[in-house]
Amino acid sequence: MILRVENLGRRYGDLAALDGVALQLRPGERRALIGPNGAGKSTLLNLVAGAQRPTTGRIHFNDRDVTRIGPARRARLGIGRTHQHPAVYPTLTAMDNVLVGARRPWGRLRPNAREYLATVGLADVAGVRAGSLSHGQRRQLELAMALAGEPALLLLDEPAAGLAPPEVELLAGLLATMPKTVAVLLVEHHLDLVYGFADNVTVLHSGRHVHTGTVAETRRSPEVKAAYAGVTP
Ligand SMILES: Nc1ncnc2c1ncn2[C@@H]1O[C@H](COP(=O)(O)OP(=O)(O)O)[C@@H](O)[C@H]1O
Ligand SMILES: [Mg+2]
Repeated sequence: MILRVENLGRRYGDLAALDGVALQLRPGERRALIGPNGAGKSTLLNLVAGAQRPTTGRIHFNDRDVTRIGPARRARLGIGRTHQHPAVYPTLTAMDNVLVGARRPWGRLRPNAREYLATVGLADVAGVRAGSLSHGQRRQLELAMALAGEPALLLLDEPAAGLAPPEVELLAGLLATMPKTVAVLLVEHHLDLVYGFADNVTVLHSGRHVHTGTVAETRRSPEVKAAYAGVTP
């Protein structure tokens, strides 16, 4: 397993944002993580990336216990991520943002940085400061930064949010052609994107795991319908 999460929990005061969640991803697996707002999806990603510390449980990446390892080292070990609210360096150019995202020495990476930018549709704005890019472009840039780190596990938090339809198309194509060496944990409300992409789908509700199954199983699961009842995913 590339990722093994056991009994993972995170409290904020009285609130259990995540409560005893277990999750396993095979190398190269495409897993979607869905659930209503407040279900704990971003919390789970933040815990796996090391941005937050769990209250309970353990996280194993590549059979190594990384629970106490900080986020920068986890990134170097091969855990890449994007955030629900894109985190880019506004005063750096798009190109330099990608170079910062890379683990390899800058000199060797420079030609590749252009390729990563092209992959996400940003070749034309390589020299533009990230702060001047549109919201959608910043989201794409953050994805290029994550890809430049050559992760074995990529955590994507709502990558389609705020994208224009052509940008969503580009993202779907990019996800479809992602190398099979990269396992992906995708948080996304855009269910067409989820069902077109995922091998398996995990559903969270109120911090708890309610379902893991194939796309077909997930579509007909009563637990999933109940979790979403009256809620717009
Ligand atoms: N830093 C925080 N402080 C307090 N509560 C938080 C914090 N982060 C998340 N929460 C709460 O934890 C729950 C899960 O949040 P989150 O993981 O962001 O859900 P999702 O990404 O599924 O919408 C929500 O009720 C949210 O308000
Ligand atoms: Mg979220």
